[in-house]
Amino acid sequence: MTVHYLPGVQRSAPTAVIVVAAGSGERLGESVPKAFVELDDRTILQHAVSRIARLPAANLIVVVVPGRLVVRARMDVMFGRPRVQVTAGGAQRSDSVRAGIEHIMAAAPETEVILVHDAARPLTPTAVFNRVIDAVTSGHRAVVPGIPVVDTLKEVVVEGERVSVRGTIDREMLRAIQTPQGFSVDALTRAYADPTELATDDAGLAERCGIPVHVVEGDALAFKITTPWDLRIARGVVAESGPEELP
Ligand code: CTP
Ligand code: MG
Repeated sequence: MTVHYLPGVQRSAPTAVIVVAAGSGERLGESVPKAFVELDDRTILQHAVSRIARLPAANLIVVVVPGRLVVRARMDVMFGRPRVQVTAGGAQRSDSVRAGIEHIMAAAPETEVILVHDAARPLTPTAVFNRVIDAVTSGHRAVVPGIPVVDTLKEVVVEGERVSVRGTIDREMLRAIQTPQGFSVDALTRAYADPTELATDDAGLAERCGIPVHVVEGDALAFKITTPWDLRIARGVVAESGPEELP
């Protein structure tokens, strides 16, 4: 296989990871913001960061949390980890990602590769991070992890109370997209150049700029904790395996 290197992006290129954790977790419905909910004796955020801190490739890890929880988060995730920094996020996920990008540009302007990861996916195996980093350093400017869709998907027509099927979608051509999503710095700054653009997905903004997005293999363990049911599953996985045994 021929490996094409981007000008300026090399293997072991300086890499930073943004961990967005500034959401409120409305759908989870707990009394604290989602990232501060415990899975065992550690919070979702502590699990997410401890896994990323095991990656030798991550030169800087920027954790983005609600402004009022910056001091608390520093106590939770920075101790003994010089590469971890904490900053305040914004009202929308894209505002939080932007805050992370600005922090990186100020703290580590030599950065060439940026990964954006949801704290709400705390059990994501390090292998997924490595696949994304490898794909960006080998020349893909935007990279997302994806997994096949298992359910049958149908497009429906909604008319008041009545819902009927318009057709069945070929799921062979579909992937459920996870994080971390990886970018060359130029691709991510271009994607986020327009402050009015909103997206739940960073690669979505890159797509709108015409940047090709490459898909690598995701992992079932990279699922997002959104609802109380997801929290139950995450707690079960942690209790069953012990955090250090997870991949
Ligand atoms: N996020 C963020 N800043 C925001 C909104 C979301 O950093 N203003 C982060 C969340 O903390 C989460 C990730 O983006 O790690 C994915 O968002 P989501 O799962 O929607 O989390 P919440 O927005 O917290 O949940 P909800 O939408 O149910 O309120
Ligand atoms: Mg949200």
